[in-house]
Amino acid sequence: MKKQMKIVLQMVSGYGGEFKTWRLPEAKADAYTDMDLYVEMAQLAEKGKIHALFMADTPALVNDLTNDSPMHSMDPLIAMTSVARATKNIGLVGTFSTTFNEPYNLARHLKALDVVSHGRVGWNAVTTSTPATAANFGARLKSSHERYGRANEMIEAVQGLWGSWGKDAYVHDKESGTFADTRKIRALNYKGEYVQTQGPLPIPPSDQGQPPIFQAGPSPEGIKLAGRFASGVYANPFSIEEAREYRNMLRESAVAHGRLADEINVFTGFMFTIADSKEEALARRRKVLEFDKQELAHRLAYLGAMVGLNFQSIDPYQPVPESWLKSAYANPHDPRSYRALEVLKEGYSPVDTLAHGVINYHPVVVGTAKDVADFLQEWFESGATDGFSIVPDLAHDGVRDFVEKVVPILQERGIFHKDYEGSTLRENLGLPYQYGTREEK
Ligand SMILES: Cc1cc2nc3c(=O)[nH]c(=O)nc-3n(C[C@H](O)[C@H](O)[C@H](O)COP(=O)(O)O)c2cc1C
Repeated sequence: MKKQMKIVLQMVSGYGGEFKTWRLPEAKADAYTDMDLYVEMAQLAEKGKIHALFMADTPALVNDLTNDSPMHSMDPLIAMTSVARATKNIGLVGTFSTTFNEPYNLARHLKALDVVSHGRVGWNAVTTSTPATAANFGARLKSSHERYGRANEMIEAVQGLWGSWGKDAYVHDKESGTFADTRKIRALNYKGEYVQTQGPLPIPPSDQGQPPIFQAGPSPEGIKLAGRFASGVYANPFSIEEAREYRNMLRESAVAHGRLADEINVFTGFMFTIADSKEEALARRRKVLEFDKQELAHRLAYLGAMVGLNFQSIDPYQPVPESWLKSAYANPHDPRSYRALEVLKEGYSPVDTLAHGVINYHPVVVGTAKDVADFLQEWFESGATDGFSIVPDLAHDGVRDFVEKVVPILQERGIFHKDYEGSTLRENLGLPYQYGTREEK
């Protein structure tokens, strides 16, 4: 059987990865607060055998909500819990900060939800680098080195707490009157430089033992953390070469920490707008760009800077003159600028080039379901990634289109599973069983 890609769906705030698509006629304007819609999206994704829902998070108001929808759900844990009881197979991966949590509260929340969801939870352990979040916790951001020091301890302590209730300590035998075998429930007494916790955590194993760890953050210390603990890494490369190099570093890091390279799955962030034709898909994105003329002007200036041109004196709705393109160059400090220049040279106007998503925070495909499937296949088969963290521009129809139109193509090509391998997240991602901390070699 061919190797198959894994796909997680980013739920963002209930709308999608473009913060103005909430105004489209197709959108539900109050999706942010409508958990029924989250549940509906999750059930649809489950029909498409999507491996997991993925919730990014920053505990702070990080974008201007005057015209834009929020960047995250109201609270990932509450969203995951709402979805857990209305789904059966789909995984639930949430982002929780290693800097602004204590091991005990996080270990408790995640393990309880893992039990409740029958083993479908994953923890995306991020260090958090937003000053606004620090301010919400009455703190200032510490150095990256200190944050990663704490991240290592947090994961050790959380996994230690998870394992502090022995695997078979939950006896609950009416006959003998033994509720729990307390000899198998031990205090952890974790004393690190950054975190301390006593334990035990009074929660038995879930159907998958405990949640697997995910990680996001590409610094050398981030890669070390991933190599040591992560089963999944959320990445944001912009080219196949960049992605391959990053994936190789992560795989080497896993091996350096006594694990198998295949124990790390890289999920590359990917955004899309699907329509029956590329022109229709571009039209939708143009419309979204035009909701905010001021921002459009700002983006045009940004695009110009990426390719060394100034679009102010030309009509941005017309192709850029040939003579101009000859003197344009892709800014080597922004990996997205190569693609931007390529699209301009194909004869698209600056506005249409923006509509291609060339300055988005992930690679974007604007086109048909086949275009999307081709992109995913190319990246996957070139060894750039193990899977994708997909972000529709608007969840309301984007999830449906992906599930109904892209998934069947991938399945037909033999590169995406036709059914869940099991009922837990570990089974579905092919991850080894782990309970408590791993014996490190
Ligand atoms: C693709 C990607 C997704 C991320 N998602 C989040 C997130 O949802 N919440 C968060 O607080 N930080 C997130 N981060 C930030 C990282 O956790 C980390 O704080 C930041 O990248 C700085 O770490 P570094 O020095 O390793 O790059 C993300 C980073 C990347 C690359």
